[in-house]
Amino acid sequence: MNTQDLDKKYVLPTYARANVEFVSGKNATLIDADGKKYIDFTSGIGVCSVGHANERVNEAICKQISNITHISNLYNIAPQAKAAQAIVETSGYDMQCFFGNSGAEANEGAIKIARKWGGIGSESEENSVKKYKVITLQQSFHGRTITTVKATGQESMHNYFGPFPDGFVYADNMNHVESLIDDHTCAVMIELVQGEGGVQPQDKQEVQALAKLLKQKGVLLIVDEVQTGVYRTGEFLASNLYEIEPDIITLAKGLGGGVPIGVVMTSLKGVLSAGDHGSTFGGNYLSTASVCEVIRILNEYKEQGLLATNTKLFNEGLDKLYTKYPNLFEDKVGVGMMCGLRVKDADTLSAIINKARENGVMVLKAGRNTLRFLPPLTITKEEMDEGFKSLDTALSTI
Ligand SMILES: Cc1ncc(COP(=O)(O)O)c(C=O)c1O
Repeated sequence: MNTQDLDKKYVLPTYARANVEFVSGKNATLIDADGKKYIDFTSGIGVCSVGHANERVNEAICKQISNITHISNLYNIAPQAKAAQAIVETSGYDMQCFFGNSGAEANEGAIKIARKWGGIGSESEENSVKKYKVITLQQSFHGRTITTVKATGQESMHNYFGPFPDGFVYADNMNHVESLIDDHTCAVMIELVQGEGGVQPQDKQEVQALAKLLKQKGVLLIVDEVQTGVYRTGEFLASNLYEIEPDIITLAKGLGGGVPIGVVMTSLKGVLSAGDHGSTFGGNYLSTASVCEVIRILNEYKEQGLLATNTKLFNEGLDKLYTKYPNLFEDKVGVGMMCGLRVKDADTLSAIINKARENGVMVLKAGRNTLRFLPPLTITKEEMDEGFKSLDTALSTI
């Protein structure tokens, strides 16, 4: 049986897969089983931040796994401690990290920290109010576990799987948050650029005003940086770009360069104690050795100005297509290397994605009508030129 037949027979059909099988890659270039070449403007949905088959990451992983791949969190793990140091120091926030394996798991950790914090002291007679409610935004996306599905503010995600955990409230937009805060609210959780919701950036002044309001009201700010983190928006964290100091931040996707990882980091260092939270695989030698090298590479990229150059070049390429096809695109959205073009309707968007793939360039969908671009941050100018040329050819046929 070929891969597609095996997949159909043995894998649950939770993904609408395209029938393409990639067999090798280098930076933003991929080759499929038929030898066809593609330029990857998706980096595996924002994961392969330093490209495919990055030599430095591969070497760091190989060196690590030739020694130890996994022990358990019952012992000190050198690359985990070093990865935490790199994350915290690069972020500039005075925080500590917990390591899991995915974005959803990182957000679960964030909600646990917020709820434990919200319950501390509520057992006493003078203060019996437990803070447990979390406000999230309509069109947000926070994951696929039962709790993070409920935290996700898209009604369509709340089918089938209930009853869900209580205590999630959805604000229409940033300005609506204040009216939803009550004595039971422990946290507000937001994405600074909504990814799955349509590559929609929040307004910086509104975010700063919200952060200030939450501090005054004694409500935590959780920023879900699963997609925006690790230089995707130009700074290490979008929180750095928005110049705010969240209480809790979550990371995943681009942090491991392709290795599964999720992190919740917080300034509330004393809230969780031994036994409150854990993960068998979280932060093991393999994933955190990769994290250390990814951060090292991207810190160099940022310092040498290469990230800024790439971001500028990529956005110029996109601007040209946006201007050339006013019949297809209504708006250009996004921040840094997290970009989108709003397409006039959902059918046209599907046609563009399929045609692009036929022409050897991979692009993504976000929300109902956004063509999304999350290229490797290390994509070369030659790869960009080739990808935009193929995309232009595809668009000219729509
Ligand atoms: C903002 C955000 N949060 C959480 C998640 C869930 O991450 P994972 O699929 O790693 O669980 C995603 C995934 O797309 C995301 O974009």
